[in-house]
Amino acid sequence: MKKLFGVIGDPISHSMSPAMHNDLFHAYGIDAHYQPLHVKKENLGDAIRGLRAIGISGFNITVPHKEAIMPLLDELDPLARAIGAVNTVVNQNGKLKGYNTDGSGYVKGLLEEISSVRDKKVLIVGAGGAARAIYFTLAKEGPQLLDICNRTVSKADFIVEDCPYLVPARALDIQEAEKILETYDLIVQTTPIGMLPDIQKSPLSIHNLKSGTFVSDIIYNPLETQLLREASNKGAGIQNGLDMFVYQGALAFEKWTGIEPEIKRMRDKVLKQLG
Ligand code: ATR
Repeated sequence: MKKLFGVIGDPISHSMSPAMHNDLFHAYGIDAHYQPLHVKKENLGDAIRGLRAIGISGFNITVPHKEAIMPLLDELDPLARAIGAVNTVVNQNGKLKGYNTDGSGYVKGLLEEISSVRDKKVLIVGAGGAARAIYFTLAKEGPQLLDICNRTVSKADFIVEDCPYLVPARALDIQEAEKILETYDLIVQTTPIGMLPDIQKSPLSIHNLKSGTFVSDIIYNPLETQLLREASNKGAGIQNGLDMFVYQGALAFEKWTGIEPEIKRMRDKVLKQLG
C-alpha cells in the first residue's frame, strides 16, 4: 500500500517540501506520497489524532506548530527536547517520535563549506526558534567561542543559559557585536531581516568584518541577501540558506526511508521551484 507522508503548517501552500520529497520518492522507486497539510493552531490535536488513525508513516512540522506538537508525541529525541522544537516525526510501529533536523541540517550544510567548527569563534545573529536549534547543534561541535546577539538581549541570554553543551559564550546586543565583528571567524544570520520583500535590509552593520570570516545566512528567498552581498564585497566567504533547507529535508528523508538522498538532486529541485 502507498505510504503517506506530509508537512503540517499554517500557511503551507508556499512549502517546497512536497515537491522535494515527492521527487525523491519517485527517484528511489518508493511507493509513497508527501502531502501539504493545512492545519490551524486550534486543530493541531485533532489533526495528529487523525494522522495516527490513518497510520501516516512520517511528517514534517513547520510554523506555527514546531513547539506545540511536542506534548502530542510519544517520544522525543534528546536534542529536539533540548531545542524545544520538532520539525520531523517518524511513525515507529504506531509510536510517533519527534526529531529536530533544522540544526543538524544547518551544520551538515555548513561543513560542506568549511572544514570544522572546533577552531572557530562564532557569532549567531538572532534568538528565535531557528537560532536556538542552530546554537545548540553548533555548541555540540565544540567551537572556541559561541556568542549570540539579538535586538532583545534577554532572549539571547535564555539560549546561552539553556544550552546543554558547555562552551565559552556571551549574549550581546547588536551594537556590541558590531563593534567586535572582526574577532569572529563565522557569523550565522538567523533573523527574517533581508527576506523578500524587504531585500534591502540587513540585521547588522558589517563595517568591522574581516575578509577571512565566513558569513552564512539561513534565508534562501532571495538567494543572496543584502548581508551576503556586503560580506562578499568585503572578501568574506558566504553561504545562503538553501543548504540548510535541503539538508534538514535530507535528514528527515533518511529517518523515514533509511536512504541518504542525493543532495544535488534536491538542491536542483528546490532551485527550480524558486524559479
Ligand atoms: P524563527 O522561529 O523562525 O527563528 P522568530 O522566533 O520569529 O523566528 O525570531 C525572529 C528573530 O529575528 C528574533 O531574534 C527577532 O528579534 P527579537 O527577539 O528582538 O524579536 C529577530 N527580528 C525579527 N525582526 C526584527 C527586526 N525588525 N529587527 C531586529 N531583529 C528582528
